[in-house]
Amino acid sequence: MHTFTTVAAMQAEARRLKAKGQRLALVPTMGALHDGHLALVQEAKKHADHVAVSIFVNPTQFGPNEDFNRYPRDLGGDMQRLETVGCDAVFAPTVEEMYPFGQQDEAVWVTVEGLDDHLDGPMRPGHFRGVTTVVAKLFHACQPDVAVFGQKDAQQLAILRRMTRALLFPVQIVGLATVRDADGLALSSRNRYLTADERAQAPVLHRALQRIEARVAEGERRTSALIEAGRSEIAAAPLARIQYVAVVDAATLAPVETLAPGQKALAALAVHFGTTRLIDNVSLSVPA
Ligand code: PAJ
Repeated sequence: MHTFTTVAAMQAEARRLKAKGQRLALVPTMGALHDGHLALVQEAKKHADHVAVSIFVNPTQFGPNEDFNRYPRDLGGDMQRLETVGCDAVFAPTVEEMYPFGQQDEAVWVTVEGLDDHLDGPMRPGHFRGVTTVVAKLFHACQPDVAVFGQKDAQQLAILRRMTRALLFPVQIVGLATVRDADGLALSSRNRYLTADERAQAPVLHRALQRIEARVAEGERRTSALIEAGRSEIAAAPLARIQYVAVVDAATLAPVETLAPGQKALAALAVHFGTTRLIDNVSLSVPA
């Protein structure tokens, strides 16, 4: 497994692979890798000859009161994990390499308007602008033919699909279903912040989403009732503080009042346990 730390070296590697006619997949990550990330690598291998994983804790997607400084960093452990799934290359640049003009003074941004009006957008001002900007830079640095992202971050995936098409990046975007622990908790690098008590209660997020799915299967179409069902499930966990529970259209991410026949929707939530913020979602398919 080769490691590249400069944009020039990574671009040279991409050119070398392309000259050999090889297809390159990129899995962008912020490191602290878990089995969900490794599943993205496995998926990437199905779509390309060569898989690169980027590991970069991107400062511009963290708000001033968020966890940039304490975000877990474990490059050695990450490299070992990537070896086990046959990753070919790691791109691990410095902040200076990715933000040559300094991240404070960054004046060039990639913004996708509209899709960040809902869900996490209003809760995390500037977050998605940081994500789209860094992923555009990663696409230029790594020149992938295909990039794989998790449905776990459904809003991020929708925004990155829109960015890729709108800016004509020659990159195929692949989404992968959320990988969960046996008790339903979605794997996340942030799960390691949870205390034992918080971890024990955290599966309530998935239970709330399953309850919403079940109510839809029973025929409930009013999203106020679906949201209430999810909220009351979470209320059973004393350490959980709900930030939002929402049902939105899967394409526009705008809130829906009544699910329509054939509609594709998303039930999504954000919940705090102490200082740790967890998100999760499930897709809802309404029969036509
Ligand atoms: P990070 O949180 O490290 O996630 C990297 C990728 O792993 C994302 O596509 C995310 O959706 C996916 N992922 C996380 N948990 C998952 C799970 N349980 N199952 C399946 N996939 C999962 O998302 C980011 O980093 C950053 O915003 C990034 C896109 C790298 C830009 O900085």
